Amino acid sequence: MASRNSQPSPEPLDPLRVPAHVAIIMDGNGRWARSRGLPRAAGHRAGVGAVRRAIEGCRDLGVRILTLYAFSTENWRRPSDEVGVLMGLLHERLVAEAEELQRSGIRVRIVGDLDAIAPETRAQIERVEAMTVDNQALLLNVAFNYGGRAEIARAVRTLAARVRDGRFGVEQISEQTLSECLYTAGLPDPELLIRTGGERRLSNFLLWQAAYAELVFLDLYWPDFDRHHLVAAVSEYQQRQRRFGGVTSA
Ligand code: FPP
Repeated sequence: MASRNSQPSPEPLDPLRVPAHVAIIMDGNGRWARSRGLPRAAGHRAGVGAVRRAIEGCRDLGVRILTLYAFSTENWRRPSDEVGVLMGLLHERLVAEAEELQRSGIRVRIVGDLDAIAPETRAQIERVEAMTVDNQALLLNVAFNYGGRAEIARAVRTLAARVRDGRFGVEQISEQTLSECLYTAGLPDPELLIRTGGERRLSNFLLWQAAYAELVFLDLYWPDFDRHHLVAAVSEYQQRQRRFGGVTSA
């Protein structure tokens, strides 16, 4: 797969219509490695560089929230050594990048079911989240042991428990109150969802929040992702007509 889409240069960006929230499915690490005769782990390591470029690119464009899909609830089905590599990378990067993220004004949150994560990694998560909590340049959500269906089921359990305890009426269950029980409570939904790696599906990512996201699929492996691809995706987003089920005004 080419490292750049062989498409004409994107239209110049309208700074007033940069999406507030961008979500990315970072796919293709394994194939990137295999195409070089390397182990899959090398692809995940190379993917870290692309994560850095995505964060810097989003911050520089004025995106306020970036949500990255780093480990899905289905990724446990991978060989245990690969699961170990991905767990290890999360821990290692939290330790190694904390100061730089702090200096760059980036707030970090890890979203997903963290009960299955090693206690020492959970401690690092808490440390980096607390350290960066007041940062304003960009909110980085790293979805880890995350699944969209699991997230919705968790929100339903939260609401059901409130009803059971008499703190909430059934009629109060609404799109709004359910949204407030998701990991993304209080955040705008992603307007732009990018997937690299050539596949064209959501793979259980942000199922609720992506209801009206513009989807941009890039035919390149995640480790090859750079600022140009981000700009091209935002440019494509800006050329889409967003109607939210309505009609376009004349
Ligand atoms: C999908 O590619 C990628 C992942 C499951 C992991 C994404 C992780 C990173 C980019 C590294 C950064 C990690 C952290 C913790 C910040 P794939 O392995 O499914 O690739 P394939 O489709 O080519 O097999």
